[in-house]
Order: sequence, then structure tokens, then C-alpha cells
Amino acid sequence: MRIGLFDSGIGGLTVLKTLKEKYPNNDYIYYGDTLNLPYGSKTKEELLKLANQNVNFLINKKVDMIIIACGTVSSNCLKELKNTYDIPIYSIVEPTINYLNQSSYNNIGVIATEATINSHIFKNNINKNVYEIATPKLVPLIESNDLTDIKDTLNEYLKDYLNKIDVLILGCTHYPIIKSEITSLNNSLNIIDMSELVALTANHGEGTISIYFSKLNDTIVGNTKRILNDCQYHLNSK
Ligand code: DGL
Repeated sequence: MRIGLFDSGIGGLTVLKTLKEKYPNNDYIYYGDTLNLPYGSKTKEELLKLANQNVNFLINKKVDMIIIACGTVSSNCLKELKNTYDIPIYSIVEPTINYLNQSSYNNIGVIATEATINSHIFKNNINKNVYEIATPKLVPLIESNDLTDIKDTLNEYLKDYLNKIDVLILGCTHYPIIKSEITSLNNSLNIIDMSELVALTANHGEGTISIYFSKLNDTIVGNTKRILNDCQYHLNSK
């Protein structure tokens, strides 16, 4: 089974890493649209145009199914993409919503990009008390690997919510990269990495990983290595 994944940049590699660990035998083809990053400040029309390009790129690589490894595109474009293509397309947001509706958590925080928060996908679909927190400064800091002030930035965003929530959804796939910094704000806070809730049925063959970025530079090469560490992969520019 060849599984295609896409994101605006390195964030979706966190989804790829989790899936590779859980389902090692599939082939994974990853596309990071670093040329058009960040997605979180774009309009729905802009997101749809880029998402269509990304899906077509992966279809040309002969994938059997696509996982949208991007919270922003999952929140804003899933229905349209599903209606346009015959190939199965899955989002990482839906399994998270289903899980939380069945969980015993009552006060749920979600940090995500502006476009995800403005879609209100979590608040509108989770039957609990949901606090939506837009955190637009995080993706540029993570992509540039500029993590010196990350704790201050996180504290600024989360200080008013930490004592109100019993779980925090990392609603953007870039955020698991700074999970330890988030945890250090409050060690007892439960954290949800959406990639852990994606369940695949297919798992056969000898798995390989191919990664494509629309713009490739040394920072992206270094970040990819840091995130995927012991995985074997082929890295290409589009
Ligand atoms: N990783 C993405 C997400 O899950 C997009 C971040 C961005 O490009 O703003 O939302």
C-alpha cells in the first residue's frame, strides 16, 4: 500500500513518523509545500487551490490513499477534496473529534493556526466545553528552528487556559515538534497528538519513505533529520 501525505512544511513529518512506527510496512510518499508556507494565514480559496495541487502531486506518484497531514487543510478543505477525487482521502482532525466525543474529558483546549481556529471545526463538532486558541507565531518559529523564545511564546498563549482545561489538542501537526516545551508549562496536562489517533487498516509489503519539498534548504534538511531521526528515507525537491 502506497500512502501519500502532505502538509505545508515539516509539520506533517510528525504524522509520517507516527504512522511509520505503527505501520512500518507501507510505502510512504510525503509532500511538504515549503514554497507556500505558512498555510495558517491563508483563505479557504487559497488553501483549496494549494490542496488540489498537493493531491495531484501525490496522485502522480501513484499513491493508493491520501492522509491530509495538516490541521489547516483538514479543517477547511476535507469535504471539497473528498468530493473531487476518487482516491480515498482522510483527515487527521476527524479521528481526534471522534475520540474526544467519546472521552471523559470535559474541558478541552485546542491550539492551532488561525485558519483552523476560524473554521471552528473542533468547537462545532465536539460536544464538550472547547477553548479555541489561535497560535500563529508558532509555525514560523518551528520551521526556522528558532526555539530560544518558544517557552515565553507558549506561556503567553496558554497562561489564561492552563487551569481551565484537562486536555490540550495539538491542532497543528507542527506542534508535536515542541511537545516537550508545551509539557514543561504543566507536567500534568494531558496532550493529544492527532497523528496518534489515525488508524490504518492496510499494512503490507516492504516499506520505504520518499519525501518531497517544493523548496528545500539546509534548515529543512536538518529539521527533517531531527524529526525522523532513525527512519530511513529519500529526500527530494519537487
Ligand atoms: N502543519 C499545518 C497544520 O497542521 C500548517 C501550518 C501552517 O503552515 O501554518 O495546520
